[in-house]
Amino acid sequence: MLVGVPKEIKNNEYRVGLTPSSVVELVARGHKVMVEVNAGAGIDFSDEEYRAAGAEMVASAADVFAAADMIIKVKEPQPRECEMLRDGQILYTYLHLAPDPQQTKLLVESGATCVAYETVTDNQGGLPLLAPMSEVAGRMSVQAGAYHLEKAQGGRSVLLGGVPGVAPAKVLVIGGGVVGDNAAAIAVGMGADVTILDRSIARLRELDAKYEGRAHCVYSTMATIEEYALDADLVIGAVLIPGAAAPKLLSRDIISRMKKGSVVVDVAIDQGGCFETSRATTHQQPTYMVDDVVHYCVANMPGGVARTATMALNNATLPYALALADDPVNALFRDKHLQNGLNVHKGHVTYKAVADALGYSYVPADEALKV
Ligand SMILES: NC(=O)c1ccc[n+]([C@@H]2O[C@H](COP(=O)([O-])OP(=O)(O)OC[C@H]3O[C@@H](n4cnc5c(N)ncnc54)[C@H](O)[C@@H]3O)[C@@H](O)[C@H]2O)c1
Repeated sequence: MLVGVPKEIKNNEYRVGLTPSSVVELVARGHKVMVEVNAGAGIDFSDEEYRAAGAEMVASAADVFAAADMIIKVKEPQPRECEMLRDGQILYTYLHLAPDPQQTKLLVESGATCVAYETVTDNQGGLPLLAPMSEVAGRMSVQAGAYHLEKAQGGRSVLLGGVPGVAPAKVLVIGGGVVGDNAAAIAVGMGADVTILDRSIARLRELDAKYEGRAHCVYSTMATIEEYALDADLVIGAVLIPGAAAPKLLSRDIISRMKKGSVVVDVAIDQGGCFETSRATTHQQPTYMVDDVVHYCVANMPGGVARTATMALNNATLPYALALADDPVNALFRDKHLQNGLNVHKGHVTYKAVADALGYSYVPADEALKV
């Protein structure tokens, strides 16, 4: 199969669909890979590295879309990319279709087979192609929080780990899933005094066993959230209620009573945010103040460490990319978890939540694949 990788065109997106080492794997399996020039330039994957890995470099996205059997990207295709997709072509990338009627319409019209990273599942009930970005954002949230606790950033001049003779900062992580666990791991590693709140007792048991007393694992209620937030130097918002907007767990009133210069990092901002005072920010202008509390609410945190994020994403996406390249129809029939990633196929919407959200008739993936 000929696999194509265009350069991402969404504003400030430096990630790329395939790393040079993923190209090596595809080429070793007998596939051809075509990459748009400069596709990885922003994160130091040079055209020379792609060529050495066995890719053919081409001048434009149009060349990639015209020739490739499968397009591998990171972000959802922009309208001009959708217009280059064609019947029979495979698109493998993040799509997030439910809130995006325009993209859905264009993908349906294209006739292409569109596999969304975010809906591929695994045996543990997880979303394995979303998890790497949650790992990145979780780890980054503490790094960002520690930096913004510095005086020059508006913070309360506190060092996360303290020093001998001075107590460490108090970090509250609300939500102990993938983001929260990774945030806690870094905060514990930096020597902070860490509390994780979650509503799942099973999850609290796992975290308690993992951290062996180095993080306090506490049941999340309105009362515990308030109690720990008022005492915290840094609060990380990391909750998720699948398919729903994030619940507002820190009210404006609580925020106004937090310590001056404390920092709140709302990782759940991509689901609307879990603090009442949150609004999405960018890497260019990541923070703003409300009642002397520093708010960091960057909606695409992994974009700030796009090289690490690209490599982490490729570790998760490559096995499915190889299976799709080897034998796409078989791979989608055989592997129910990959099949869950199929959102659009030959003009049919094959993912129920997307069909329901946007008023399309739903055609189950295994039926659509028979057509
Ligand atoms: N901003 C970014 O760049 C970025 C990047 C990756 C993920 N995210 C977002 O981070 C959020 C967390 O993602 P995740 O992968 O960790 O999800 P996850 O499903 O692994 O974890 C969510 C956790 O929240 C817990 N929870 C739900 N309601 C709660 C409550 N009231 N109090 C305490 N805990 C509660 C759940 O029990 C679960 O353990 C999501 O909104 C995700 O979209 C944002």
